[in-house]
Amino acid sequence: MIGKKMEKALNGQVNAELYSAYLYLSMAAWFESKNLSGFANWMCVQFQEEQFHAMKFYDYILERGGTVTLTAIEAPQTAWNSPLDAMEATLEHEQKVTGLINDLVYLARNEKDNASEIFLQWFVTEQVEEEDNVNTILGQLEWIKDHPQALFGLNKELGQRTFTPPAAEGD
Ligand code: FEO
Repeated sequence: MIGKKMEKALNGQVNAELYSAYLYLSMAAWFESKNLSGFANWMCVQFQEEQFHAMKFYDYILERGGTVTLTAIEAPQTAWNSPLDAMEATLEHEQKVTGLINDLVYLARNEKDNASEIFLQWFVTEQVEEEDNVNTILGQLEWIKDHPQALFGLNKELGQRTFTPPAAEGD
């Protein structure tokens, strides 16, 4: 049975992951409106990944005999100044999520909740990958500032991204 403090914090993370999904769907719509469908595709995959993350917390809370309590999801921003601006906002958001995951790990340690600490390790690793993915795109966008014609090549590349549920990779 999960402790009340941990249960509340994990429910908070379900909301945070669903907000992430919402934010990236909003970015997908904005990119699509700018005819950058490759970037929009990349954001749609982010949207799917975040829903997967939310469900992973949801399943875990229930598995530990806890109660899932869904709360209102904040409305995300709807427009950005440029692809670079949107990707900078994405990195900033992922860094914030990394902080939230770290706080959950510290709480699990304080609560002597070993199962939750082990469960959270998957997210610690996932956040390293998430930040790295965004950093790579940001680096390319910085370079594109001086070579704007290259934006369409990156757009094409991002259009190739597909969602692979991590469970299918042996998680
Ligand atoms: Fe669920 Fe992008 O972290």
